[in-house]
Amino acid sequence: MIPRNLAILLSGRGSNFVAIHEAIRRGDLEARICCVVSNVPDAAGLAKAREFGLNAVSLPSKGVERIEYDRLLLETLRPYSPSLVCLAGFMRILSPLFLEEYPGRVLNIHPALLPSFPGLHAQRQALQYGVKISGCTVHLVDEGVDTGPILLQRAVQVLDGDTEESLSARILKEEHDLYWRAIALVLDRLEKGEDTRGPRR
Ligand code: GRF
Repeated sequence: MIPRNLAILLSGRGSNFVAIHEAIRRGDLEARICCVVSNVPDAAGLAKAREFGLNAVSLPSKGVERIEYDRLLLETLRPYSPSLVCLAGFMRILSPLFLEEYPGRVLNIHPALLPSFPGLHAQRQALQYGVKISGCTVHLVDEGVDTGPILLQRAVQVLDGDTEESLSARILKEEHDLYWRAIALVLDRLEKGEDTRGPRR
């Protein structure tokens, strides 16, 4: 049995983090959140982590150079020995320095069906383009912006009259049910000694 320690990195409200925490509590996901780190000291998600009694660490990124920040982040995470690093609304791009320490073990969730609409405001981009189906993607993180190998996706219909808010809310509901499943998938692959990217690569 491998350690199933999850480090969560977030910058905002942290609803995906809470959904992962709940999946663990329900017994759907066999894992443990070893720490929650935020680059935004007053992020709501960090306050939630404290409420849950988890190791909650504020590591402000304001004014810190990218490589220096990633070095600090690595140092912060190391004592918690994470098996996976799960980005949950973490608004920073990680450098190769960071990714090399956790090869194939950094996950992210994105509110669109990648490779469509990477980057910021994915739901707005989908509405502006006029797609009829969007959704969410959990993928492994590489050096690009939302470009890493896809783990799981869930489709969400775009309805006539949808606003950015209404579409985002329906996608978010699916995100909450998708992320923990992708985490379970990657942990199982690690346990079997398989490539975390899956068999088709
Ligand atoms: C989610 O929409 C996620 O897909 C994106 O950032 C948002 C984070 O929301 N990467 P929350 O902080 O988990 O509520």
